[in-house]
Amino acid sequence: MDSFLINGGKKLSGSVAISGSKNAILPVMAAALLCSGKCVLHNVPHLLDFKNMANLLVHLGAKVTHEAGTMTIDTCDINVWEAPYELVSKMRASIYVMGPLLGRLGKAIVSFPGGCAIGSRPVDFHLSAFEKLGARIMIEHGNIYGYCPDGLKGAVIDMPFPSVGATASAILCSVISEGETLIKNVALEPEIDDSLIDFLTLMGAKINRINDNELQIIGVKELYPAEMTMVSDRIEAGTFLLAGAITKSNITITNCEPKHQKSLLEKLEKTGCTFAQTQDTITIFPAETIKPIDITTAPYPAFPTDLQAQYMACMTLADGSCKIKETIYPDRFLQAAELNRLGANITVKDGTATVLGVKQLSGAEVMASDLRASAALILAGLVAEGTTKISRIYHIDRGYEKIEDKLGSLGADIQRIVAKR
Ligand code: EPZ
Repeated sequence: MDSFLINGGKKLSGSVAISGSKNAILPVMAAALLCSGKCVLHNVPHLLDFKNMANLLVHLGAKVTHEAGTMTIDTCDINVWEAPYELVSKMRASIYVMGPLLGRLGKAIVSFPGGCAIGSRPVDFHLSAFEKLGARIMIEHGNIYGYCPDGLKGAVIDMPFPSVGATASAILCSVISEGETLIKNVALEPEIDDSLIDFLTLMGAKINRINDNELQIIGVKELYPAEMTMVSDRIEAGTFLLAGAITKSNITITNCEPKHQKSLLEKLEKTGCTFAQTQDTITIFPAETIKPIDITTAPYPAFPTDLQAQYMACMTLADGSCKIKETIYPDRFLQAAELNRLGANITVKDGTATVLGVKQLSGAEVMASDLRASAALILAGLVAEGTTKISRIYHIDRGYEKIEDKLGSLGADIQRIVAKR
C-alpha cells in the first residue's frame, strides 16, 4: 500500500484548481441508469470511488469511459439487477443504484452496505423511501431484495432526518414513479440541489422545490441522456483553505463555488483569517495566531462533518482550547489518536473532542483510516517539525485527485512512496 512522506514547515503559495465533486458525481452516475443512452459528465476527476462506481455500472450492463476529466456512461443495455458484495463493499454509495434499478427493471438486489470507519451508516431511510413508493423490500443473507412488479407509485416521503443519501435515493426512485411524490425534510446539500436535481431536470425529470426543504416530483414515463459539467468539490475546496490556515500561507483556490463555503469561512474568520473572493475563487489571508473557535457539525448549510477532521488539525495549533462537536457521526474522531501521535493534545468524550492547542507538532509515522481523517493527517504533516509518514493512503485517493501534486504545486514537500506491487 502506498504512503506519503511529508517534510513539514514549508510555507505554501500560489493557487490551486478545485476538481469536480465526489459526492455530487456519484448519485449522477447512478442517475444515468434511468435512461437508455449516452450521458456525458464533464469536470470529473480520476478518483477511486468513481472507478468503483463505474465497475458497478459496467457489471449492470453499462459501458463507461473516463478520459481527461470527461466520463461517458452508455446505459442502452442494462440487463443485470444485482449489485454484488465485492463491488458494494468497496463503496457505500453503491446503494444509489437501487432506486434506478427498481424504476427501470422493477427489481434490484443490492448487497447490504456495511459500515465504515466513521460509523454503522444504516440505510433504513433509503429502504423506507422505496417502500413508500411501492417497492417490496426484504433483507436476507446480507442482501437487500427490492421488487415492484406493479411499478412505482408517487407518495409522500417524510425524511426522519435530512439524509443526503436517502434524499438522493428517494429522488432517483420517484422521478419515474407514476404520479406525484412529495419528499419532506430533504437534505439541502449542494450535491442534491446544484447537481443531482439539475442533471435529472436535464434528463427530463419534473422536480420542483416547493419550499426550503420540500420537493415535489411529478413522475414521467421516460428520461433521456443528458450532458453536464459537474459542480466543484466543496470539501476539497475547504480542505485546501484549511491547508492555507494551518500553514499560515496566503493561497488562492480556483474553480470553486464560494457560496458553498459560508459556514467554514465564518468559523475561520473568527479564528483570525480573512478572505478575498471572486465568482469562482477564494484567497485566504491566514491568522498569525490561530484563535480557538468551537464548531458543531450539522446538515448543510451548517458546518460540514466532512471538514471536521481537517478543522481539528488546524485547531491543534490554536492559542488555547476549543470544542468540536460531531452530530452527524458521533464516532467520527479517528484522526484524534493519530494527531496526538504528531504531538497534538485532543481528548474525545460523548461525540465531542476537546482540542488544547500546542506550540508545535512533530513528525511521526501515522496511518490513514477514513478519507477525511486522512486529509487531516496530511494538513498536520505540512506543519509538523520533521518528517511525517502516512500509510494506507488509498483512503485519500478515494476522494482527492493527486493531492500530492496539488500541494506540491503550492510548495509543500510531499511525495508518494509507491509500495512494491
Ligand atoms: C453523505 O453520506 C456523504 N457521502 C458523506 O461524505 C457525508 O459525510 C454525509 O453525506 C453527510 O454530509 C456521499 O455523498 C457519498 P447521510 P450519507 O445519509 O448520505 C444517518 C465523505 O467523506 N442515516 O446524510 O451516507 C447516518 O448514519 C463522505 O465524502 C440513517 O440513520 O450521509 C448519519 O448519522 C463520508 N439512516 C446521518 O443520517 C439512513 O438510511 C447523515 O447521513 C441514512 C442515514
